[in-house]
Amino acid sequence: MRENPLVLHVLGARPNFVKAAPVVRALGELGVRQGIVHTGQHYDALMSDVFFADLGLPEPVANLGVGSGTHAKQTAALLVGLEEVVLEHAPDLVVVYGDVNSTLAAILVCAKLGVRTAHVEAGLRSFDRGMPEEVNRIVTDSLSDLLFATSPDALSHLAAEGVPAAKVHLVGNPMIDSLFAALPSLDPAPVVARLGAPERYAVATLHRPANVDSPEAAAELVSAVLEVSRQIPLIVPIHPRGRTRLAEAGLVDGPSVQVVDPLGYVDFLSLVRGAALVVTDSGGVQEETTMLGVPCLTVRPNTERPVTITHGTNRLVTPALLPAAAEKALADGASTPSGELPPLWDGAAGPRIARVISAWLRGDNLSPAAQGIRSE
Ligand code: UD1
Ligand code: UDP
Repeated sequence: MRENPLVLHVLGARPNFVKAAPVVRALGELGVRQGIVHTGQHYDALMSDVFFADLGLPEPVANLGVGSGTHAKQTAALLVGLEEVVLEHAPDLVVVYGDVNSTLAAILVCAKLGVRTAHVEAGLRSFDRGMPEEVNRIVTDSLSDLLFATSPDALSHLAAEGVPAAKVHLVGNPMIDSLFAALPSLDPAPVVARLGAPERYAVATLHRPANVDSPEAAAELVSAVLEVSRQIPLIVPIHPRGRTRLAEAGLVDGPSVQVVDPLGYVDFLSLVRGAALVVTDSGGVQEETTMLGVPCLTVRPNTERPVTITHGTNRLVTPALLPAAAEKALADGASTPSGELPPLWDGAAGPRIARVISAWLRGDNLSPAAQGIRSE
């Protein structure tokens, strides 16, 4: 490894920013030279800038401005832009996060250029290849040099796919690190007051293509969500992907529904913290409600985050079952089967990842035991 090696983080979408912030902070504390490449997959101020401000992320060294498009068009633009930036900066390691198209593209570019990579949030599997994210996860994990797992189930998925155990490190969940760091600032009252919302409310976030892209799916979902709003006033910070389709299906402001722009990280989690119930199809929100102990109903047939069910407040529901499940959740409050958080969700995942990366950059022994990290 050369003197003063360089680490680049490739980020593009809202959840990437939340996962990267603790890793960037911890690498900074170890004095590692690093930079952020923003692909521009998400570009609205409320989908991007607000996260850099709320999470204290440094300015990117490059913003590729790839924007939106079909999977082929967006991925093609990402490949072209990322190849140029990786050639220009010649990083020693590229770190990618989660399962978005920016992650997939960065892994492909680096694999072809012979640049080494690390994947944060490796090994999650929904076993549903109809989800674009599942395809991205499989390809990303198969090409990564260092794999950072957030939950123990990921280890067996990676082993089953033939990923050598020596590449894999169970480090905990950096998204939960960000939540721990934000906790002292999470106050529902000012957000509730600003929105003019009542004291007791539920929050809904919905953006999965299977739920919002077709008029039929959107209609079924909206009808179920409106039934929930007859039980409890509902605040819906709407992801741009679902905005038009869900509105056409009838998800508009009403006596007990408030549809608002996407919220910044601190505002959104403040609202979640004070909510009696969350209805979602987000990956990250399943984890955050587990940590905050807020009942969560996930409108999906599967989850790549089963620890949020076994160790958390999350339940999977169909749209048809959502109203009854909401009624029960509102009556019962939060209950967690195991009574404890998933292992290593302790706010220290970022420093663990940074220690492994820094040792890897030095060429040190990377056995998990040598790092003080569990490999299974
Ligand atoms: C992407 C990820 C998804 C993740 C989500 C987080 C992929 C394949 N999907 O989905 O896994 O859960 O981000 O939020 O990478 N748009 C805007 N403004 C923006 C960004 C997007 O208006 O700043 C609109 C555009 O109409 C765009 C649509 O949202 O076509 C979808 O954006 P895109 O980045 O393609 O996918 P997401 O649905 O956001
Ligand atoms: N989030 C936010 N504002 C919102 C909705 C979500 O800050 O209006 C945060 C949420 O707390 C989590 C992240 O965005 O940290 C999750 O992003 P998203 O649901 O878009 O993606 P997913 O996790 O499904 O990939």
